[in-house]
Amino acid sequence: MARFWVCAAGAGFLLAFLALHSRLCGSPVLRKFTFQISWRTEKILYRLDLGWPKHPEYFTGVTFGVAADSLSGLVYVAQRGDNIPKVLVFTEDGYFLRAWNYTVDTPHGIFAASTLHEQSIWITDVGSGSYGHTVKKYNSFGDLVQVLGTPGKKGTGLNPLQFDSPAELYVEDTGDIYIVDGDGGLNNRLIKLSQDFMILWLHGENGTGPAKFNIPHSVTVDSAGRVWVADRGNKRIQVFDKDTGEWLGAWNNCFTEEGPSSVRFTPDGKYLMVAQLNLSRLSIMAAPPVGSIGACSVVSTIQLADEVLPHLLEVDRKTGAIYVAEIGAKQVQKYVPLNSCVPSSGS
Ligand SMILES: *[C@@H]1O[C@H](CO)[C@@H](O)[C@H](O)[C@H]1NC(C)=O
Ligand SMILES: *[C@@H]1O[C@H](CO)[C@@H](O)[C@H](O)[C@H]1NC(C)=O
Ligand SMILES: *[C@@H]1O[C@H](CO)[C@@H](O)[C@H](O)[C@H]1NC(C)=O
Repeated sequence: MARFWVCAAGAGFLLAFLALHSRLCGSPVLRKFTFQISWRTEKILYRLDLGWPKHPEYFTGVTFGVAADSLSGLVYVAQRGDNIPKVLVFTEDGYFLRAWNYTVDTPHGIFAASTLHEQSIWITDVGSGSYGHTVKKYNSFGDLVQVLGTPGKKGTGLNPLQFDSPAELYVEDTGDIYIVDGDGGLNNRLIKLSQDFMILWLHGENGTGPAKFNIPHSVTVDSAGRVWVADRGNKRIQVFDKDTGEWLGAWNNCFTEEGPSSVRFTPDGKYLMVAQLNLSRLSIMAAPPVGSIGACSVVSTIQLADEVLPHLLEVDRKTGAIYVAEIGAKQVQKYVPLNSCVPSSGS
């Protein structure tokens, strides 16, 4: 434990220095950084990748979401604003490739669901314009492939399926789709769809009890077959069985100040990365063993500068890199793991 506190104090010092530095330089951006997170016998180190992207001036709007396609090595950024491209495509090395403009109104969540045969980018659109209230699938060049929901019309219907403000989605390798709707408005739902878009199960009620939601904002699936939902307005994470939809438990005690806005697992499945928007904080939480949700445990936190506002984050499934879409700083930043699973001595 002593070692943990030494690391934490060191990280705190670095953060304090950098926060000061960024204030003096008039930038909300933390530009030089190594995080050291030590927890019992393991250590995770993340370094801010200063060279990603190579040309941050491509961020011309408010960056709400980011998706990493680890098969193709591409990173997709969804941004909002007038007369700007809504989707920016970068390589994982930070080179700008292309942008798309069309058929995206107000992007919220974005997810890359590629197979060896097909590269797909899904976007949840919370706009009220003619493309909004939808969940859409694109190919990697921005051609629209599939639209779920009734474009331009919000609703609560299930047949056909309608959305109001779909916040995010997660697509499994099998093609099964999990959607959280959403980001305020009519619906507080978690929906599982089959790869041919049939509803397999759903939890659809507003409220504070088990399997009810208040702004379900982000969703992810772990390798043990559990679905994790950032139930932001209820300041908790809820967990479900992915096959049956059965409620498995909730983490209530780790988000007393502000609810979680984003959830993603590290590639080894050992940690859940969680963003808290207004606190400008990322938390690294220990994933529970199979069969027990238990109580939550924050292994460490990464405090960003005030007003950075991390909205949604992504973890690259191959490299473990974390991409954070920051709506305050209006950019996406990349954090790279330096190493992991290094046994520590003497603790
Ligand atoms: C986006 O729209 C603008 C204005 O309509 C246009 O000038 C630009 O070429 C478009 N870019 C793309 C990538 O479609
Ligand atoms: C959902 O319930 C919360 C209280 O649990 C309430 O504040 C909110 O207005 C409700 N939202 C909707 C869309 O009914
Ligand atoms: C963050 O702060 C803004 C402005 O005070 C508020 O409107 C919003 O609801 C807050 N978001 C969360 C997740 O608490």
